[in-house]
Amino acid sequence: MKKLVFTFSAIALLVACAPKTTEVIDKVETPESNKTIDFPSGEIAEGDYLYTENCGSCHKFKTITNYSEEQWKKIVPKMAKEAKLDATQENKILQYVLWKRTL
Ligand code: HEC
Repeated sequence: MKKLVFTFSAIALLVACAPKTTEVIDKVETPESNKTIDFPSGEIAEGDYLYTENCGSCHKFKTITNYSEEQWKKIVPKMAKEAKLDATQENKILQYVLWKRTL
């Protein structure tokens, strides 16, 4: 009988210590289009990549054309900070959104 109790508590302990199942978040969400677009420069292509990787995690991808050039120049530095990107990456994203606005 003692052995049975021991087995039970061992199982209980195991269950309690098992890692909680983490929620799987599907992050693979591409901004509206751009699959077939040729980028005007490597920097902008990198900007597209950085944007896709970093800008849709906290909120959905924002519609780029909803914001003016002036707004983007204020938004990107703020958001790059949120996404913990450096100045080079920030600049690539800014170039990308400004180019994308003009399509
Ligand atoms: C750490 C979280 C986080 C990351 C990463 C992030 N954002 Fe945001 N962003 C926010 C929050 C919070 C707001 C304000 C609430 C909202 O509009 O959803 C916001 C708002 C915005 C807005 C709306 C601004 C406005 O004035 O209406 C735009 C556009 C935007 N983000 C673009 C981006 C871009 C581009 C990136 C990638 C560089 C990015 N975000 C990455 C948290 C984040």
